[in-house]
Amino acid sequence: MTIGIQTAAYVFASILFILSLGGLSSQESAKRGVFYGIVGMAIAILATVLGQGVHGQVYIIMAIAIASVIGILLARKVEMTSMPQLVAILHSFVGLAAVLVGYGSYLDPKTQALPAAEHNIHLIEVFIGVFIGAITFTGSIIAWGKLEGKIMSKPLLYPGRHAVNIILLIASIVLGVLFAGAEGTNGLLYLYIMTAFAGFIGVMLVMAIGGADMPVVVSMLNSYSGWAASAAGFMLGNDLLIVTGALVGSSGAILSIIMCEAMNRSFISVILGGFGAVAASGDATAMEGEVTAMNHEEVADFLKEAKSIVIVPGYGMAVAKAQYPIYDMVQTLQKAGKKVRFAIHPVAGRLPGHMNVLLAEANVPYDIVMEMDEINPDLPETDVVMVIGANDVVNPGAQDDPSSPIYGMPVIEAWKAEKVIIMKRSMSVGYAGVENPLFYKPNAEMLYGDAKDSVEKILGFLKA
Ligand code: TAP
Repeated sequence: MTIGIQTAAYVFASILFILSLGGLSSQESAKRGVFYGIVGMAIAILATVLGQGVHGQVYIIMAIAIASVIGILLARKVEMTSMPQLVAILHSFVGLAAVLVGYGSYLDPKTQALPAAEHNIHLIEVFIGVFIGAITFTGSIIAWGKLEGKIMSKPLLYPGRHAVNIILLIASIVLGVLFAGAEGTNGLLYLYIMTAFAGFIGVMLVMAIGGADMPVVVSMLNSYSGWAASAAGFMLGNDLLIVTGALVGSSGAILSIIMCEAMNRSFISVILGGFGAVAASGDATAMEGEVTAMNHEEVADFLKEAKSIVIVPGYGMAVAKAQYPIYDMVQTLQKAGKKVRFAIHPVAGRLPGHMNVLLAEANVPYDIVMEMDEINPDLPETDVVMVIGANDVVNPGAQDDPSSPIYGMPVIEAWKAEKVIIMKRSMSVGYAGVENPLFYKPNAEMLYGDAKDSVEKILGFLKA
């Protein structure tokens, strides 16, 4: 393949990636967006593998084939609820790849033979690329551990951690200067030490963030993985990798900022692992009131009486795979002339758009799926709110309990409806690990049990 054709293929792939990101901005065009992404990636891989100066194509294609089989098997096996973990571990691969590319490119005799000025620029690219890559690698592994429940989700905060991080950062800059000044490949030791420092910073950065701030961490690591890929692009002189990395890096950063706004968090303090700490040390407010429970038939009776119903799904709906019977129930209620809508919190579930994906999977029409800001003003006029497997996203403590770790996070104001029915298996807490005063409100009733099982039973009574 000539350089001209390769450049044209890269430009075409870049355009497809941009169209892909544009497509992913709305549910209606998301499938098209994914398709553009797949075609763009196929073109990018082909153009790279068949490009000039690449040898051993047979081995590369064999490696791609083996990796693709592993990827397909894993993606088929992974549950929707484990998607964030998968994303986190994939980010770690990007980080690791950037580190390996950095080392490989530093030791490459061709780059050693570059003219002095170009060689210096290349050394800076290598150093920064390995630094970002190592942070992304270890940070993503910790994020995976936290999401998988292998590492405690509570923030790990030790005194002076900011000072330690800053010292390590300064030490890394000094190492960078020594590295750039070293002859031949003598700078390898500095690179090793900096990689260890960066790896440690990555671990500490994510260990310090906990509870409800984890979604931001995942999208932040997504952004880092983009910058790591971009850095690898600079090291390899690959324009497409630079562009693609920058697209992922900037879109991940924008997503992190949007999520911080949705959760009323300061982006900087989340990144520095400051949030949650103050609140976690505060005394939890004791719950007041009594918890009352209903059975399935009573819930069905309430629904039969109601004119307007809002369903707030959460992580538990994903665990129970309750979206299908829920949509059956919605259709039954609609046939009985009721206005039924869904209220989606921006961080409900465990990944951005988690609830939207599940509801789309069950063919729920988009026009009855409302965002938090759209639905909140309607809740005081709503007869019944059904909270199905959600907890943190309907916690009133976020508005009125300054000691709560999620204080300040906008929530769906379910308690403003005439009746709230909370469907979950027990009184246990949600992801952020906080008690929920909603369960104790006089207009709230619990319906204990697995969400899918409960909805099916309610549906039975509704149809009877
Ligand atoms: P959570 O607050 O985590 O609550 C989910 C509830 O579902 C739990 O309290 C659990 O109670 C219940 N549940 C679990 N399995 C169930 C089942 N089979 N049937 C019925 N209920 C079940 O979920 P949420 O309200 O969706 O809030 C999301 C939380 O996750 C937020 O704190 C958010 O910050 C965090 N988070 C979000 C993301 C993204 S990007 N969305 C990523 C990481 C973390 P029982 O055990 O009593 O059943």
